[in-house]
Amino acid sequence: MENKSIGVEREHWGSRFGFVMAAAGSAIGLGNIWRFPYLAGDNGGGAFIIIYLIAAFLIGFTVMLCEFAIGRAGQLNAIGSFRKLAPGTPWWITGAFGVLAAFLILSFYGVVAGWTMAYVWMTVTGSLSGVPSDQLPGIFVGFITNPTQPIIWQAIFMVLTVGIVVAGIKGGIEKWSKILMPAIIVILFILMFRGLTLEGGFAGVSFILKPDFSQITGKVVLAALGQAFFSLSLGMGTMITYGSYLEKKENMPSSAATVIGLDTGIAVLAGFAIFPALFAVGLEPSQGAGLVFMVLPAVFDTLPLGMFFGTIFFILLAIAALTSAISILEVVVAFIKDEFNVARSFSAIVIGFIIFLVGVTASLSMGPWDHIVVPFPGSEAGLNLFDFYDEFSAKILLPIGGMLICLFTVWVWKPQNAFKEITNNGTLSFAWLPLFKFMAGIVAPIVILIVLLNGFGIFG
Ligand code: PHE
Repeated sequence: MENKSIGVEREHWGSRFGFVMAAAGSAIGLGNIWRFPYLAGDNGGGAFIIIYLIAAFLIGFTVMLCEFAIGRAGQLNAIGSFRKLAPGTPWWITGAFGVLAAFLILSFYGVVAGWTMAYVWMTVTGSLSGVPSDQLPGIFVGFITNPTQPIIWQAIFMVLTVGIVVAGIKGGIEKWSKILMPAIIVILFILMFRGLTLEGGFAGVSFILKPDFSQITGKVVLAALGQAFFSLSLGMGTMITYGSYLEKKENMPSSAATVIGLDTGIAVLAGFAIFPALFAVGLEPSQGAGLVFMVLPAVFDTLPLGMFFGTIFFILLAIAALTSAISILEVVVAFIKDEFNVARSFSAIVIGFIIFLVGVTASLSMGPWDHIVVPFPGSEAGLNLFDFYDEFSAKILLPIGGMLICLFTVWVWKPQNAFKEITNNGTLSFAWLPLFKFMAGIVAPIVILIVLLNGFGIFG
């Protein structure tokens, strides 16, 4: 094991900006613009958002810093880094959970990314222009339940993902992330201003800013925590893997803070872009997974050059999804490549194909296979395969992974080693170090455990 990382020089990020953009590129994706608004809509709005923000800044920051440190110290993939830092212990299983989560998440993620690409096509060809807003939900449902079309788009998306991962770290992942992140922010601002200036749009602002705490239940808190993990790409080794390509001199606490700031900023911006528009066109907030696809085309239609903006928006969303998807695939590819000495390109293609096949089952479960129901705690009727992959990873695998990562850092790898790594051998000042130790060793694991148990109704 050891000599593998010594023998061949590990590839590293080209610059600090490149690393932060790649990590932000992983974090910012469908999680912010598709998943966050619809969960907020389903779970009562403002109160959900507040809990989400607390989870992201307190628990998310702690877990992200642990992941960066483990990856950079280990200089290996998510499983290999655990093995290297704690040889002969079963802690590598934490990384193995991560690899499983990567399979499940990318399978349904590829499906949703395919939907966004299909919407690029629909806006380009004008098939959404002038459609009355009450017909948009029907168009969306008709499309996702179709047995073949969404799968074709999903396949195209997976080919792009594999292509970038084959190109490697600096040339592929870093280059793309740097260009595209800024563009998405601009277009969300345009949408927000348009939504706010539409008649009735202001109701969306109160939906976000007037939290109704009576809506908060254990389930809602768990959904918010799961969303924080999902949106920040935490709990499954993505940030361990990205950390392993970090140079020793980088400042990890400030990188983590920047990534979290950008990610939550964009999620909130997406909320302000979507809810005012939603109330203006007279839809209900709890539209589920179709929310952005049902609401935004109606807003574009009211803008001058609307479908042009629509096209740009869905292109950017697809690209944001791409920079996240590559980070998920990279978790598995780095593992196969480091441990079995298989070429990057071969492992990316094979793993990408397997994940595509799992994703096909997720896509079919929206239509032809919707009778297949998987039991899931907290859901009386059970879940279809798509929702099962989503909920099982976000609500179970990622939080448990995050809890184990924190416990490992403080109690197994030992704080002095973690601190040395985080402070670049004592050369970097990080005043919050004692607080971090308390958070990672005690607060975060306990809070995660309580939220999990309470969310599934086991106690509380
Ligand atoms: N964070 C990504 C998003 O919000 C999704 C993701 C989850 C990426 C887990 C990597 C790991 O879209």
